[in-house]
Amino acid sequence: MLSEKMAKSLNEQHNREIYSGYFYLGMSAYAASSGLSGFAHWFFQQWKEELIHAKKFMDYIIKRKNRLVLLPIEEPPQDFSSGEDLFNRTLNHERNVSKLIAGLVEMAKDENDRETCEFLQWFVKEQVEEETTPAGILKKIRAEGKDEKALSAIDCQLAGRK
Ligand code: FEO
Repeated sequence: MLSEKMAKSLNEQHNREIYSGYFYLGMSAYAASSGLSGFAHWFFQQWKEELIHAKKFMDYIIKRKNRLVLLPIEEPPQDFSSGEDLFNRTLNHERNVSKLIAGLVEMAKDENDRETCEFLQWFVKEQVEEETTPAGILKKIRAEGKDEKALSAIDCQLAGRK
């Protein structure tokens, strides 16, 4: 079993992953309403990915013979100003998630909980991608996005996300 403190923290992270999904779903809806269908698709895919992250925490908590505790989901921001705003918020959000994961790794190390340390390594690697991808898109939007045709080309590229 997990320690009480670790079980609580992993449950909270499960909740943060669900929140992340909700956060991106709002962005997808905003983008769809703003005629940015490629952006909308990209954030919808991100919503699905976050639910997979949440499921990994759920499965792990249960595997360790603890109970999954479902916590209230915070209301995400719903007022956005542009595609650039969406990716700026995404990058900041993912940087925060990386800090939360790093905190969990430290806690697992302090508790000599090797299994949890190993479980978290997947997230440590994933967070590199979770930061790098939006950082690259944001850079592109900042460099080219003022031009309507270029923004439309970026929107087309985002539509290709698998
Ligand atoms: Fe589950 Fe985007 O971090």
